[in-house]
Amino acid sequence: MMKKKVIAYERVEEPVLKELESTFDLEFFKNINPKTDKNFLKHLQEAEGIIGLELVVDKELLDHAPNLKIVSNVSVGYNNLDIEELTKRNIMATNTPDVLTDTVADTIFGLVLATARRIPELDHFVKSRKWRDGALSNEYFGVDVHHKTLGIIGMGRIGQAIAQRAHLGFDMDILYHSRTPKPEAEEKYNAAYRSLEDLLKESDFVVLITPLTAETEGLIGISEFRLMKKSAMFINGSRGKTIVEKDLIQALKDGEIAAAGLDVFEQEPVESNNPLLDMKNVVTLPHIGSSTHETELKMSQLAAKNLIAGLNGEKPPTLINSQVWK
Ligand code: NAP
Ligand code: GLV
Repeated sequence: MMKKKVIAYERVEEPVLKELESTFDLEFFKNINPKTDKNFLKHLQEAEGIIGLELVVDKELLDHAPNLKIVSNVSVGYNNLDIEELTKRNIMATNTPDVLTDTVADTIFGLVLATARRIPELDHFVKSRKWRDGALSNEYFGVDVHHKTLGIIGMGRIGQAIAQRAHLGFDMDILYHSRTPKPEAEEKYNAAYRSLEDLLKESDFVVLITPLTAETEGLIGISEFRLMKKSAMFINGSRGKTIVEKDLIQALKDGEIAAAGLDVFEQEPVESNNPLLDMKNVVTLPHIGSSTHETELKMSQLAAKNLIAGLNGEKPPTLINSQVWK
Protein backbone atom coordinates (compact mmCIF):
# COMPACT_ATOMS: atom_id res chain seq x y z
CA MET A 1 0.00 0.00 0.00
CA MET A 2 1.23 3.51 -0.86
CA LYS A 3 2.35 5.49 2.17
CA LYS A 4 0.57 8.79 2.80
CA LYS A 5 2.62 11.91 2.13
CA VAL A 6 3.36 14.03 5.19
CA ILE A 7 5.34 17.27 5.41
CA ALA A 8 7.34 17.95 8.57
CA TYR A 9 8.33 21.59 9.02
CA GLU A 10 11.04 23.32 11.09
CA ARG A 11 10.83 21.50 14.43
CA VAL A 12 9.86 17.89 15.13
CA GLU A 13 12.06 16.00 17.58
CA GLU A 14 14.32 13.34 16.03
CA PRO A 15 12.83 10.16 17.63
CA VAL A 16 9.36 11.28 16.57
CA LEU A 17 10.53 12.05 13.04
CA LYS A 18 12.00 8.53 12.82
CA GLU A 19 8.73 6.99 13.98
CA LEU A 20 6.75 9.02 11.46
CA GLU A 21 9.18 8.04 8.68
CA SER A 22 8.32 4.39 9.22
CA THR A 23 4.60 5.05 8.71
CA PHE A 24 4.47 7.90 6.20
CA ASP A 25 6.20 9.14 3.10
CA LEU A 26 7.82 11.96 5.08
CA GLU A 27 9.51 15.08 3.71
CA PHE A 28 11.28 17.33 6.24
CA PHE A 29 11.78 21.03 5.47
CA LYS A 30 13.77 23.61 7.43
CA ASN A 31 15.04 27.10 6.62
CA ILE A 32 13.12 27.40 3.36
CA ASN A 33 10.71 30.00 2.07
CA PRO A 34 7.45 28.00 1.92
CA LYS A 35 5.94 30.53 -0.48
CA THR A 36 8.62 30.01 -3.14
CA ASP A 37 10.49 26.75 -2.48
CA LYS A 38 9.71 24.61 -5.54
CA ASN A 39 10.41 21.28 -3.83
CA PHE A 40 8.19 22.19 -0.87
CA LEU A 41 5.36 23.32 -3.14
CA LYS A 42 5.67 20.12 -5.19
CA HIS A 43 5.32 17.88 -2.11
CA LEU A 44 2.53 20.08 -0.76
CA GLN A 45 0.42 19.08 -3.80
CA GLU A 46 0.37 15.48 -2.57
CA ALA A 47 0.56 16.03 1.20
CA GLU A 48 -2.29 14.66 3.34
CA GLY A 49 -0.73 15.88 6.57
CA ILE A 50 1.54 18.65 7.84
CA ILE A 51 3.28 18.52 11.22
CA GLY A 52 5.51 21.32 12.47
CA LEU A 53 6.19 24.68 13.94
CA GLU A 54 5.04 28.11 12.81
CA LEU A 55 4.29 27.29 9.18
CA VAL A 56 1.88 29.98 8.01
CA VAL A 57 -1.09 28.02 6.71
CA ASP A 58 -3.27 30.50 4.87
CA LYS A 59 -5.50 30.49 1.81
CA GLU A 60 -2.49 30.84 -0.52
CA LEU A 61 -0.74 27.78 0.95
CA LEU A 62 -3.95 25.76 1.05
CA ASP A 63 -4.51 26.40 -2.67
CA HIS A 64 -1.30 24.37 -3.22
CA ALA A 65 -2.52 21.54 -0.94
CA PRO A 66 -5.60 19.91 -2.49
CA ASN A 67 -5.16 16.61 -0.60
CA LEU A 68 -4.56 18.02 2.89
CA LYS A 69 -6.57 16.48 5.76
CA ILE A 70 -4.76 17.71 8.87
CA VAL A 71 -2.32 20.37 10.06
CA SER A 72 -0.69 19.41 13.35
CA ASN A 73 1.07 22.30 15.09
CA VAL A 74 3.97 21.52 17.43
CA SER A 75 2.92 24.44 19.64
CA VAL A 76 -0.05 25.46 21.73
CA GLY A 77 -0.37 28.82 19.97
CA TYR A 78 -1.97 28.58 16.54
CA ASN A 79 -1.94 32.15 15.27
CA ASN A 80 -0.03 30.77 12.24
CA LEU A 81 -3.15 28.90 11.12
CA ASP A 82 -6.14 30.39 9.29
CA ILE A 83 -8.66 28.31 11.23
CA GLU A 84 -11.66 29.71 9.34
CA GLU A 85 -10.16 28.77 5.97
CA LEU A 86 -9.09 25.31 7.21
CA THR A 87 -12.58 24.66 8.60
CA LYS A 88 -14.20 25.82 5.38
CA ARG A 89 -12.11 23.21 3.55
CA ASN A 90 -12.83 20.51 6.17
CA ILE A 91 -9.18 20.27 7.18
CA MET A 92 -8.39 19.41 10.82
CA ALA A 93 -6.11 21.68 12.87
CA THR A 94 -4.47 20.55 16.11
CA ASN A 95 -2.11 22.01 18.73
CA THR A 96 -0.18 20.87 21.84
CA PRO A 97 -1.84 22.27 25.00
CA ASP A 98 -1.08 21.17 28.59
CA VAL A 99 2.18 19.26 27.99
CA LEU A 100 4.12 22.55 27.93
CA THR A 101 2.23 24.53 30.57
CA ASP A 102 4.63 24.08 33.52
CA THR A 103 7.73 24.53 31.38
CA VAL A 104 6.50 27.82 29.91
CA ALA A 105 5.43 29.03 33.37
CA ASP A 106 8.96 28.27 34.63
CA THR A 107 10.47 30.32 31.77
CA ILE A 108 8.16 33.25 32.35
CA PHE A 109 8.81 33.23 36.07
CA GLY A 110 12.52 32.98 35.27
CA LEU A 111 12.13 36.17 33.22
CA VAL A 112 10.42 37.88 36.17
CA LEU A 113 13.34 36.98 38.45
CA ALA A 114 16.03 37.71 35.86
CA THR A 115 14.55 41.14 35.11
CA ALA A 116 13.98 42.13 38.74
CA ARG A 117 17.36 40.92 39.98
CA ARG A 118 19.20 41.90 36.75
CA ILE A 119 20.72 38.43 36.48
CA PRO A 120 21.93 38.52 32.82
CA GLU A 121 23.35 42.03 33.21
CA LEU A 122 25.25 41.11 36.38
CA ASP A 123 26.42 37.81 34.90
CA HIS A 124 27.93 39.84 32.06
CA PHE A 125 29.45 42.23 34.62
CA VAL A 126 31.24 39.39 36.46
CA LYS A 127 32.36 37.54 33.32
CA SER A 128 33.70 40.69 31.71
CA ARG A 129 36.04 41.03 34.74
CA LYS A 130 34.47 44.30 35.90
CA TRP A 131 33.86 43.12 39.49
CA ARG A 132 36.81 44.77 41.17
CA ASP A 133 35.33 46.19 44.40
CA GLY A 134 34.29 43.80 47.18
CA ALA A 135 30.94 45.26 48.18
CA LEU A 136 29.09 46.75 45.24
CA SER A 137 27.23 50.04 45.53
CA ASN A 138 23.45 50.26 45.16
CA GLU A 139 23.74 51.02 41.46
CA TYR A 140 23.91 47.22 41.01
CA PHE A 141 20.94 46.38 43.23
CA GLY A 142 17.73 44.92 41.91
CA VAL A 143 14.20 44.92 43.34
CA ASP A 144 12.32 42.26 45.31
CA VAL A 145 9.91 39.89 43.64
CA HIS A 146 8.49 38.21 46.75
CA HIS A 147 5.48 39.89 48.37
CA LYS A 148 4.97 42.17 45.35
CA THR A 149 1.88 42.35 43.11
CA LEU A 150 1.86 40.30 39.91
CA GLY A 151 -0.70 41.13 37.21
CA ILE A 152 -1.38 38.32 34.73
CA ILE A 153 -3.09 39.17 31.44
CA GLY A 154 -4.44 35.88 30.03
CA MET A 155 -5.36 33.65 32.96
CA GLY A 156 -5.48 30.40 30.99
CA ARG A 157 -3.44 27.23 31.49
CA ILE A 158 -0.05 28.98 31.50
CA GLY A 159 -1.31 32.10 33.30
CA GLN A 160 -2.63 29.94 36.14
CA ALA A 161 0.63 27.97 36.38
CA ILE A 162 2.46 31.30 36.72
CA ALA A 163 0.00 32.33 39.45
CA GLN A 164 0.69 29.05 41.27
CA ARG A 165 4.44 29.74 41.32
CA ALA A 166 4.00 33.37 42.33
CA HIS A 167 1.46 32.74 45.07
CA LEU A 168 2.78 29.54 46.63
CA GLY A 169 6.49 30.13 46.09
CA PHE A 170 6.87 33.90 46.37
CA ASP A 171 3.92 35.09 48.49
CA MET A 172 2.91 37.47 45.73
CA ASP A 173 -0.51 39.12 45.44
CA ILE A 174 -2.09 38.00 42.17
CA LEU A 175 -4.27 40.16 39.95
CA TYR A 176 -5.53 38.82 36.64
CA HIS A 177 -7.39 39.83 33.54
CA SER A 178 -8.98 37.51 30.99
CA ARG A 179 -12.22 37.35 29.05
CA THR A 180 -13.96 35.27 31.70
CA PRO A 181 -13.50 35.05 35.48
CA LYS A 182 -11.55 32.12 36.90
CA PRO A 183 -13.15 31.17 40.25
CA GLU A 184 -10.82 28.18 40.69
CA ALA A 185 -7.70 30.36 40.42
CA GLU A 186 -9.29 32.91 42.74
CA GLU A 187 -9.79 30.14 45.29
CA LYS A 188 -6.40 28.40 44.86
CA TYR A 189 -4.10 31.39 44.42
CA ASN A 190 -6.12 34.14 46.07
CA ALA A 191 -6.18 35.81 42.64
CA ALA A 192 -8.38 38.87 42.11
CA TYR A 193 -10.01 39.85 38.81
CA ARG A 194 -9.29 43.35 37.48
CA SER A 195 -10.15 45.33 34.38
CA LEU A 196 -7.10 45.67 32.12
CA GLU A 197 -6.74 49.29 33.17
CA ASP A 198 -6.80 48.57 36.91
CA LEU A 199 -4.43 45.62 36.57
CA LEU A 200 -1.91 47.83 34.75
CA LYS A 201 -2.19 50.57 37.38
CA GLU A 202 -1.83 48.28 40.39
CA SER A 203 0.81 45.69 39.39
CA ASP A 204 4.54 45.70 40.14
CA PHE A 205 5.07 43.04 37.47
CA VAL A 206 2.80 42.65 34.44
CA VAL A 207 2.90 39.33 32.58
CA LEU A 208 1.23 39.04 29.16
CA ILE A 209 0.35 35.45 28.19
CA THR A 210 -2.71 35.55 25.90
CA PRO A 211 -2.89 33.94 22.47
CA LEU A 212 -2.35 36.27 19.49
CA THR A 213 -5.77 36.90 17.94
CA ALA A 214 -7.49 39.75 16.12
CA GLU A 215 -8.62 40.93 19.58
CA THR A 216 -5.23 40.79 21.30
CA GLU A 217 -3.05 42.15 18.49
CA GLY A 218 -1.46 45.38 19.80
CA LEU A 219 -3.29 44.97 23.13
CA ILE A 220 -0.49 46.72 25.01
CA GLY A 221 0.62 50.01 23.47
CA ILE A 222 1.80 53.38 24.70
CA SER A 223 -1.38 54.29 26.59
CA GLU A 224 -1.24 50.94 28.44
CA PHE A 225 2.47 51.39 29.29
CA ARG A 226 1.64 54.88 30.60
CA LEU A 227 -0.93 53.39 32.96
CA MET A 228 1.72 51.17 34.57
CA LYS A 229 3.78 52.25 37.59
CA LYS A 230 7.09 53.86 36.65
CA SER A 231 8.72 51.08 38.70
CA ALA A 232 6.75 48.33 36.90
CA MET A 233 8.42 45.52 34.95
CA PHE A 234 6.69 44.13 31.87
CA ILE A 235 7.10 40.51 30.78
CA ASN A 236 5.88 39.24 27.40
CA GLY A 237 5.58 35.47 26.88
CA SER A 238 2.67 35.48 24.44
CA ARG A 239 3.59 36.63 20.93
CA GLY A 240 5.51 39.71 19.77
CA LYS A 241 2.46 41.22 18.07
CA THR A 242 0.29 41.31 21.20
CA ILE A 243 2.19 44.50 22.02
CA VAL A 244 3.17 47.52 19.94
CA GLU A 245 6.92 46.99 20.11
CA LYS A 246 7.87 50.56 19.15
CA ASP A 247 5.68 51.76 22.04
CA LEU A 248 7.51 49.46 24.47
CA ILE A 249 10.80 50.95 23.26
CA GLN A 250 9.39 54.45 23.76
CA ALA A 251 8.01 53.59 27.22
CA LEU A 252 11.42 52.24 28.31
CA LYS A 253 13.25 55.28 26.87
CA ASP A 254 10.86 57.70 28.58
CA GLY A 255 11.00 55.87 31.91
CA GLU A 256 7.26 55.08 31.78
CA ILE A 257 8.20 51.57 33.03
CA ALA A 258 11.40 50.33 34.66
CA ALA A 259 12.31 47.18 32.73
CA ALA A 260 11.10 44.40 30.46
CA GLY A 261 11.63 40.65 30.02
CA LEU A 262 10.84 39.32 26.55
CA ASP A 263 10.66 35.83 25.11
CA VAL A 264 8.88 37.00 21.95
CA PHE A 265 9.35 39.77 19.40
CA GLU A 266 7.42 41.39 16.57
CA GLN A 267 10.01 40.02 14.15
CA GLU A 268 11.67 36.65 14.93
CA PRO A 269 14.60 36.15 14.84
CA VAL A 270 14.89 39.65 16.28
CA GLU A 271 16.56 42.14 13.92
CA SER A 272 20.10 43.12 14.90
CA ASN A 273 19.25 46.86 14.88
CA ASN A 274 16.32 46.47 17.30
CA PRO A 275 16.90 49.10 20.06
CA LEU A 276 15.68 46.63 22.71
CA LEU A 277 18.94 44.72 22.25
CA ASP A 278 20.94 47.70 23.48
CA MET A 279 18.95 48.29 26.65
CA LYS A 280 20.46 47.00 29.89
CA ASN A 281 17.07 46.91 31.57
CA VAL A 282 15.66 44.50 28.97
CA VAL A 283 16.17 40.75 29.37
CA THR A 284 15.76 38.81 26.14
CA LEU A 285 15.20 35.17 25.24
CA PRO A 286 14.93 33.65 21.74
CA HIS A 287 11.28 32.43 21.95
CA ILE A 288 12.24 29.43 23.99
CA GLY A 289 9.42 29.28 26.56
CA SER A 290 8.59 25.60 26.06
CA SER A 291 12.01 24.47 24.87
CA THR A 292 13.41 21.97 27.32
CA HIS A 293 14.49 18.56 26.00
CA GLU A 294 11.70 16.85 27.92
CA THR A 295 8.88 19.17 26.89
CA GLU A 296 9.83 19.53 23.22
CA LEU A 297 9.75 15.73 22.99
CA LYS A 298 6.31 15.62 24.62
CA MET A 299 5.06 18.31 22.22
CA SER A 300 6.36 16.41 19.18
CA GLN A 301 4.82 13.19 20.52
CA LEU A 302 1.41 14.81 21.05
CA ALA A 303 1.58 16.45 17.62
CA ALA A 304 2.40 13.06 16.06
CA LYS A 305 -0.49 11.43 17.94
CA ASN A 306 -2.82 14.09 16.54
CA LEU A 307 -1.47 13.60 13.02
CA ILE A 308 -1.70 9.80 13.10
CA ALA A 309 -5.23 9.84 14.54
CA GLY A 310 -6.40 12.35 11.93
CA LEU A 311 -4.91 10.39 9.03
CA ASN A 312 -6.39 7.13 10.40
CA GLY A 313 -9.88 8.64 10.44
CA GLU A 314 -9.94 8.99 14.24
CA LYS A 315 -10.59 12.16 16.21
CA PRO A 316 -7.24 13.79 17.13
CA PRO A 317 -6.91 14.25 20.93
CA THR A 318 -6.42 18.02 20.78
CA LEU A 319 -8.44 19.07 17.75
CA ILE A 320 -8.92 22.86 17.52
CA ASN A 321 -11.69 23.11 14.92
CA SER A 322 -13.97 20.40 16.26
CA GLN A 323 -16.68 21.56 13.79
CA VAL A 324 -14.95 19.51 11.09
CA TRP A 325 -15.44 16.33 13.12
CA LYS A 326 -18.76 14.71 12.21
P1 NAP B 1 -5.12 29.24 27.11
O1 NAP B 1 -5.24 28.21 28.19
O2 NAP B 1 -6.08 29.22 25.99
O3 NAP B 1 -5.15 30.67 27.82
C1 NAP B 1 -5.27 31.87 27.15
C2 NAP B 1 -5.83 32.91 28.07
O4 NAP B 1 -5.86 34.17 27.38
C3 NAP B 1 -7.26 32.63 28.53
O5 NAP B 1 -7.37 32.91 29.88
C4 NAP B 1 -8.09 33.63 27.74
O6 NAP B 1 -9.23 34.08 28.41
C5 NAP B 1 -7.12 34.79 27.61
N1 NAP B 1 -7.50 35.67 26.54
C6 NAP B 1 -7.77 35.39 25.24
N2 NAP B 1 -8.14 36.51 24.59
C7 NAP B 1 -8.09 37.51 25.49
C8 NAP B 1 -8.36 38.89 25.45
N3 NAP B 1 -8.79 39.48 24.31
N4 NAP B 1 -8.22 39.64 26.59
C9 NAP B 1 -7.83 39.05 27.73
N5 NAP B 1 -7.55 37.74 27.85
C10 NAP B 1 -7.68 36.99 26.73
O7 NAP B 1 -3.69 29.18 26.45
P2 NAP B 1 -2.28 28.80 27.10
O8 NAP B 1 -2.02 27.36 26.93
O9 NAP B 1 -2.21 29.40 28.45
O10 NAP B 1 -1.30 29.60 26.09
C11 NAP B 1 -1.42 30.99 25.95
C12 NAP B 1 -0.51 31.53 24.88
O11 NAP B 1 0.83 31.56 25.33
C13 NAP B 1 -0.42 30.73 23.57
O12 NAP B 1 -1.52 30.95 22.72
C14 NAP B 1 0.87 31.24 22.97
O13 NAP B 1 0.65 32.40 22.18
C15 NAP B 1 1.69 31.63 24.20
N6 NAP B 1 2.81 30.68 24.40
C16 NAP B 1 4.07 31.14 24.29
C17 NAP B 1 5.13 30.27 24.50
C18 NAP B 1 6.55 30.77 24.41
O14 NAP B 1 7.43 29.97 24.09
N7 NAP B 1 6.81 32.02 24.70
C19 NAP B 1 4.90 28.93 24.77
C20 NAP B 1 3.60 28.50 24.87
C21 NAP B 1 2.55 29.39 24.69
P3 NAP B 1 -10.55 33.17 28.61
O15 NAP B 1 -10.09 31.96 29.39
O16 NAP B 1 -11.44 34.02 29.40
O17 NAP B 1 -11.02 32.81 27.24
C1 GLV C 1 5.06 28.35 21.64
O1 GLV C 1 5.25 29.51 21.48
C2 GLV C 1 3.74 27.77 21.67
O2 GLV C 1 2.76 28.45 21.35
O3 GLV C 1 3.67 26.56 22.00
